Amino acid sequence: MSKYLITGGAGFIGSHLAESLVGRGHSVRILDNFSTGRKENLSAVSGRVEILEGDIRDRDAVRTAVAGMDFVLHQAALVSVTQSVENPEETLAVNVAGTLNVMQAAREARIRKVVLASSCAVYGAGPIPAREEQSTMPLSPYAASKLAGESFALSYYSSYQLPCVCLRYFNVFGPRQDFHSPYSGVIAIFIARAVAGKPVTIYGDGRQTRDFIYVGDVVRANILACESDRADGRVLNIGSGRGRSLLELRSELEALCGVRMKLERSAPRTGDIRHSRCSPARARALLGFSPQTDFRAGLDATVRWQRDGSELKTP
Ligand SMILES: NC(=O)c1ccc[n+]([C@@H]2O[C@H](COP(=O)([O-])OP(=O)(O)OC[C@H]3O[C@@H](n4cnc5c(N)ncnc54)[C@H](O)[C@@H]3O)[C@@H](O)[C@H]2O)c1
Repeated sequence: MSKYLITGGAGFIGSHLAESLVGRGHSVRILDNFSTGRKENLSAVSGRVEILEGDIRDRDAVRTAVAGMDFVLHQAALVSVTQSVENPEETLAVNVAGTLNVMQAAREARIRKVVLASSCAVYGAGPIPAREEQSTMPLSPYAASKLAGESFALSYYSSYQLPCVCLRYFNVFGPRQDFHSPYSGVIAIFIARAVAGKPVTIYGDGRQTRDFIYVGDVVRANILACESDRADGRVLNIGSGRGRSLLELRSELEALCGVRMKLERSAPRTGDIRHSRCSPARARALLGFSPQTDFRAGLDATVRWQRDGSELKTP
């Protein structure tokens, strides 16, 4: 049994991590300021995780949270690209200075490893499939902040030998992903519209593609990164390696929900990239990681959660 701190543990991905780790018999502490995270996300592990309400910008709160832990899964971040464009300073403070606080506290507490949630956003409009060794091209303050967070984490590995792994998540989807905001993940929004019998808006021709990965697979990638030392000091893509267009997504959902989804077309959004897809080779080679959840099964679980709150058990 190990002790895990999950920053941002009340959020979409963090709460799945918490549930899975508790299910495996580990001890879990969460540090979250509940800006986008919600207590209800943790209802399945209520009373079985320690919850500290605090901010990663607050050094003392981070030190207290990290003390006595074996591993830190650092998920807390401002995740909205739009918000980062409107207020880059706040994104810098949370995603960069906050990450530095986490690394410094982890170093002082001699944590065994920090696994950092990074993002495919660091690739911008770079070549497809995105490979970890290619140049990055952050197109938003959010992307820049994720890249800076990675750099700090890797610098702690080389300067202080603090083991760390940076996981560049592609488009994660699954139950508990917020679907209320127009800036939520496209799958969450499409399902919400399908379930409510409302039309979906497609910006551009709908042939833009994304690499979708189910949240349970992202959880597995984090656990593998803790359990093996082969990826220490490395950056890894965590995606499916397959691009799916928004039109394909709509057809899958129509088949699953048994409805016809009306489309509303709108002009392409500035800054939206056309295609995103990863090379999953490095994560496979170093961690033996490849996604196990079939896309349709993941969609089905997400639809069921949006309809009636039921969920697939997180692996
Ligand atoms: N969801 C995706 O598709 C995706 C893709 C790439 C990367 N990521 C990364 O994965 C991580 C988790 O994202 P998510 O989708 O679960 O988002 P989320 O918004 O559901 O979770 C983020 C959590 O961090 C908390 N938080 C935010 N600011 C904080 C602060 N200053 N101090 C303490 N807690 C704070 C929030 O309350 C929330 O619980 C983020 O680092 C994000 O950048 C997500």
